[in-house]
Amino acid sequence: MTKVSIIGAGAIGRPVIEALVGGAVEDVEVVGVVNDTPVGECPVPQIRLAKAIESSDVIVECAGQAVVSVHGVEILEAGRDLLITSAGALADPDLVARLLAAGPGRMFVTSGAIGGIDLLVSAASHGAVHRASVTTTKLPATLLQPWMDDATQERVRATTEPTTIFEGSAAEAARYFPRSLNVAATVGLAVGDLELVEVRLVADPGAELTSHVIEADADAGSYRFEIRNHPSAANPRTSGVVSRAVVRSLSMLVGRPVGAVSIV
Ligand SMILES: NC(=O)c1ccc[n+]([C@@H]2O[C@H](COP(=O)([O-])OP(=O)(O)OC[C@H]3O[C@@H](n4cnc5c(N)ncnc54)[C@H](O)[C@@H]3O)[C@@H](O)[C@H]2O)c1
Repeated sequence: MTKVSIIGAGAIGRPVIEALVGGAVEDVEVVGVVNDTPVGECPVPQIRLAKAIESSDVIVECAGQAVVSVHGVEILEAGRDLLITSAGALADPDLVARLLAAGPGRMFVTSGAIGGIDLLVSAASHGAVHRASVTTTKLPATLLQPWMDDATQERVRATTEPTTIFEGSAAEAARYFPRSLNVAATVGLAVGDLELVEVRLVADPGAELTSHVIEADADAGSYRFEIRNHPSAANPRTSGVVSRAVVRSLSMLVGRPVGAVSIV
């Protein structure tokens, strides 16, 4: 049995817990959930982070970038594997250096809301990647940021057609749109260079689905992936499929999905 604790009981963490408790991955026991507020009704106990680290083999972060930056090293140094959902935390090169120096626990990042990452990793190991970009289109309300003044918030909220509200490097996106950076950071990690990734964010009042267009030109080939996900009912900033990506990643780490041929 592999013992697993989840950090975060939100739009991603809850369905992950339900899937694991329901037996989605063989030989996994969920020890508990760590959350910064009371979780209410939940099929596993709410526990403190110290207890999760003490009694789990794998910690699954579904809470936010701060959890990775504040607790990542501690988790890895305790010899626990860490599966990260908030990939945007890894846009900070100093943090990445500290996490890579920590251990013996291993660090993994789920593919989350996007696909094609496997091919980009292969392409980056085959030769140079010359260009990479991510264009994300979401409902305007999901792109509002606390730093925006009232006039900017209103302009974004009231937009009647697809409008580019940010264009820049992944590093700049990390600063201005931290919650929208997870996909850009994942692509940056896949191609081995976050600086390479050009990010464009589009506010579209007609965007029933959240879309990510990922493009890359490399020695190995030229790639274009278009992903269109339904938002999670619990949190429209998150795509509903992400919890399933987390369960899939976990099954790759610790076992195999029940009743399925695993695509790795
Ligand atoms: N990789 C991807 O494709 C992808 C996609 C969407 C979201 N994400 C990441 O996943 C995270 C979770 O997304 P969500 O939609 O479930 O968010 P959510 O807001 O619905 O849930 C987050 C939960 O974590 C808890 N939490 C927050 N900070 C905490 C802390 N320091 N300690 C313990 N608990 C804490 C909150 O109380 C909440 O219950 C996001 O912050 C984002 O960084 C990644």
